[in-house]
Amino acid sequence: MPPCLAPAVEVLPDAAAVAQRAAALLIDPLCDPQQPPTGLATGRTMEPVYGALCEGLRDDGRFDPHGWRSFNLDEYVGLTAQDPRSFGAYMQHHLGRPLGLPSQALQLPDGAAADPAAEAARYGEAVRRRGLGLQLLGLGSNGHVGFNEPPCAATAPCRVVQLSGSTRRQNAGAFGGDPASVPVQAITLGLAEILAARELLLVVLGAAKAGILRRALQEPAAAELPASWLQAHPRVRVVCDREAAAQLD
Ligand code: GLP
Repeated sequence: MPPCLAPAVEVLPDAAAVAQRAAALLIDPLCDPQQPPTGLATGRTMEPVYGALCEGLRDDGRFDPHGWRSFNLDEYVGLTAQDPRSFGAYMQHHLGRPLGLPSQALQLPDGAAADPAAEAARYGEAVRRRGLGLQLLGLGSNGHVGFNEPPCAATAPCRVVQLSGSTRRQNAGAFGGDPASVPVQAITLGLAEILAARELLLVVLGAAKAGILRRALQEPAAAELPASWLQAHPRVRVVCDREAAAQLD
């Protein structure tokens, strides 16, 4: 990998300011038909971001719901897009319905596919064929991006992955608080597709992520911390609140 290029880090006072900033960075690529599709993410971090994004897009004269082009990072294996716990349902709730997007506009892996490995191959190929412009990313408590659990090589492609106990605990909220109800597998874009995006935007909120954000940005990149591979990208921007930035040098 190329040497660490010290990602640009913007530290803002709170989640609302981070959401406004991230939304502002997303609006251009989502409104400009000349730009490649945008990579989108899920999770609690993105809820205020998508709230601000909906407001910003509604106020932007260029926004055309029929011109929407995006690919999500990941989806649980075994859940249909109609299942309220799926990332497909999350995206419909936070962006699809509020923005009136056409039903197939938000592209995600099909978690209910009969052959998840074949679906991962199909989805990865679709993303690689189009290429991604701006890729939005959250940060897992164990350093995952998408569902690339540690250890994970920087060359890992879109594939079916096993979810770790810590990730299933982190995401149990959407499953009635029960980690055992969280699916054991997911389809995720790999670091290969993520690092191939033209630009990366990592959004991080809260004191609970301060330690892992410091390690991801300031320790040598390594498979044990998948988000650390982002250091190798020539155009990566981190937008975080003061609490998440508390341990950065
Ligand atoms: C989830 C998703 C990631 C997300 C991360 C952080 O498991 N697969 O794409 O960025 O974990 O989630 P949260 O924002 O809820 O902390």
